[in-house]
Amino acid sequence: MLKMTREKDLKQIHDEIKSCKKCALHETRLNAVPGEGPVNAKVMFIGEAPGAKEDETGRPFVGRSGKLLRSLIAEAGLAEDEVFITSILKSRPPKNRTPKKSESEACMPYLERQIETINPQVIVLVGGVAISNLIGPWKLADAHGRFYEGKGRTYFMSYHPAAALRNPELKDVMRADFEKLKKDLR
Ligand code: URA
Repeated sequence: MLKMTREKDLKQIHDEIKSCKKCALHETRLNAVPGEGPVNAKVMFIGEAPGAKEDETGRPFVGRSGKLLRSLIAEAGLAEDEVFITSILKSRPPKNRTPKKSESEACMPYLERQIETINPQVIVLVGGVAISNLIGPWKLADAHGRFYEGKGRTYFMSYHPAAALRNPELKDVMRADFEKLKKDLR
């Protein structure tokens, strides 16, 4: 489809997300966080849910975790205009608690439409929440650094950057995962 049409479609999805009231999180959020990146992104990164900084700004992965994720993406040689960054939930759960099933179910159609519109070469799932919601439960220790083919899509799994902030040894693990990812991209 024409890039202009896809851009319009993506904007439409993001406008719907910004005014979404499908779950109670709209009552406590400051801003919904649809995601960021070009419609023709090669790689789509999917996290868990917006945190405080994302809620304040309406932008994904701009807090401490985000800074780490964005630096690992850059280190792997991927440019900002090659990636789209979003999360399972588009609104912040209070105190950053884990998303409820009802919330991720309410939000999933938006993500599905984003994936369909962007049609990325690879979808990178960072952390257990993204992995279990998109392809089913995996142990991170087994999952990280692996590709997974399913539902006509190619996924790649790694840790959530918040885990690497808690356990700095995981930074190198994520770095190695992202290297593997970069190598596989055409
Ligand atoms: N963590 C996420 O999973 N997503 C964000 O946007 C920010 C932090």
